[in-house]
Amino acid sequence: MFILLPMAGRIPQNFIDELLARTDIVDLIDGFVPLKKMGKDFKACCPFHDEKTPSFTVSQNKQFYHCFGCGANGTAISFLMEYSHLEFLEAIEEMANKAGLPIPEEANQPRTDSNLSELYELLEIVVRFYCTQLKEHKQAGRAIEYLKNRGISGEIAKQFELGYAPAGWDNLIEELGKSDAAQKRLSLTGMIIKRDNGGYYDRFRDRIMFPIRDPRGRVIGFGGRVLDDETPKYLNSPETPIYHKGRELYGLYQARRTNKDLQRLYVVEGYMDVIALAQYGITNAVASLGTAATSDHLERLFRAAAQVVFCFDGDNAGRTAAWRALETTLPLIRDGRQAFFMFMPQGEDPDTYVRSNGRESFEDNSQYLALSDYLIAKLKETTDLSTTQGQAKLVDDALPFISLMPQGALRKLLIRDVAKLSDGDEAYIESLLSSQKPVERRTIRSNKPAQKSGNENLVGKIISMLLYQPTLVHTVENQDALKSIPVAGVDFLLELLELIRNNPKISCAGILENWRDTKYEPRLKQIAASNSDMLAVSSRLEEEFLGALTKLQAKKTQQELKQLTNVKRVSNLSAEDKEAIRKLTKISDKK
Ligand code: UTP
Ligand code: MN
Repeated sequence: MFILLPMAGRIPQNFIDELLARTDIVDLIDGFVPLKKMGKDFKACCPFHDEKTPSFTVSQNKQFYHCFGCGANGTAISFLMEYSHLEFLEAIEEMANKAGLPIPEEANQPRTDSNLSELYELLEIVVRFYCTQLKEHKQAGRAIEYLKNRGISGEIAKQFELGYAPAGWDNLIEELGKSDAAQKRLSLTGMIIKRDNGGYYDRFRDRIMFPIRDPRGRVIGFGGRVLDDETPKYLNSPETPIYHKGRELYGLYQARRTNKDLQRLYVVEGYMDVIALAQYGITNAVASLGTAATSDHLERLFRAAAQVVFCFDGDNAGRTAAWRALETTLPLIRDGRQAFFMFMPQGEDPDTYVRSNGRESFEDNSQYLALSDYLIAKLKETTDLSTTQGQAKLVDDALPFISLMPQGALRKLLIRDVAKLSDGDEAYIESLLSSQKPVERRTIRSNKPAQKSGNENLVGKIISMLLYQPTLVHTVENQDALKSIPVAGVDFLLELLELIRNNPKISCAGILENWRDTKYEPRLKQIAASNSDMLAVSSRLEEEFLGALTKLQAKKTQQELKQLTNVKRVSNLSAEDKEAIRKLTKISDKK
């Protein structure tokens, strides 16, 4: 069995459980969006997309909200993150304040031996050191000259806290690494590097320094640019306890601070792009720091603003990157969220573009390509729509992408477009989609639709009932009997039973939070959103639950029986074997 680390960062899981137990999701949401009781649930018009009739539903029992219109769903923590545009830890802080619970000490403790808050403080001092060097170092003239040549104003340099790491191997060490402990701490932040033969040296030398802040404003790392054509052009902080490359977005902190109500975010490639745009009044650009935008990035972006505009170079590399961004975006593009693509003319990036064409031209919507238009345009590129085969291919090629999208108006729109182009009808495409499992990224052609086995459905049903009523766990008498049942999902089921046993008061929301940011989360949310039909059987829920468990156990028996008869087919069965088979058949007949 696998051990799952709570992915919630440094907040202990039992504190999250406690917080959820003390907060009623109905009260919490009602404070932002007035709810009306309808049947067993509470309803409102969805705050995450436009609608006239309420499809936003809050279940008090499950402590879970779900919008049947746009698919937004989650726990009280998710709601605060979505509605108030908060990061996970910020949402926890806000809930803890409301509930009057102090966040436990442990939450501030790092996983490494040095305290994390010490590292943040240290980097704050490093920022100031580099800024001072840009003003005072005797060789800073070159750096200032460089920034001037690139058209960067003093004001914007100050706002983004640009600095200068002087040439030489030990400027930072001399300044901040006097003791062994201090050197150790500096090296934990990645600012100095250990030599093979003892001692340390400065990572960043003779470079323009760009501090990277997380959304809460803490410095987590740096980028450093050479002043000439040396390579590497940019050097970045390595992975450290506080800097994780695939997660951070340069400029997000500044964008959120400058704009109280962010509607749109531009995603650009580089530090210089963010800074140049800001200088031209476009203060809502962020950079993904040289990596392709990840799902993590996109979740963060969409939490901060409903509209995301990707800016890419017009060259081949840019087009490839754009296509990857599209694939990453599709699963997250529910109603109320919009994604656009913008391609720079050949040889330009947002930095040079805004300097020669100005803000208005950059912000001109008419040159943005909506995500669905971009997808259709790409699909059409490789298809001859004047033939029936071509039309069929278009549908075939489109299916895996559409199936990545959550239900909603955008998905419907795309289906309509594909139907129109292929001279087919929407219902037919819908029917193909319903037999299609979302496919792996980047496979244009889908395989035969994979059939979900009845066994997996059985496990799904059991999990679904547990999410509806976690206390069902007490009816399970012999949990060990479930071990080593050869059915996918049983390992997870065992984890789930264990979790509930250890937390007898846990709600559906608590279960979801336990698996936040893991690969199980999407499926669990899906189950939580769709298990309301349990109500229909709720009087017989226990009976249904035990029945499903017995059926599952019978799978093991059937398997054992099969093995026994397979092995012994050639030889004569012993009396013992016969007895074993007789017993096994009896049990599996009973199911
Ligand atoms: P670009 O090569 O497009 O650079 O890299 P740029 O941002 O336009 O920089 P200037 O205008 O030449 O100064 C885009 C981003 O990729 C990362 C950096 O984050 C950079 O901003 N990168 C690039 C690196 O990390 N290392 C490199 O050597 C190059
Ligand atoms: Mn550039």
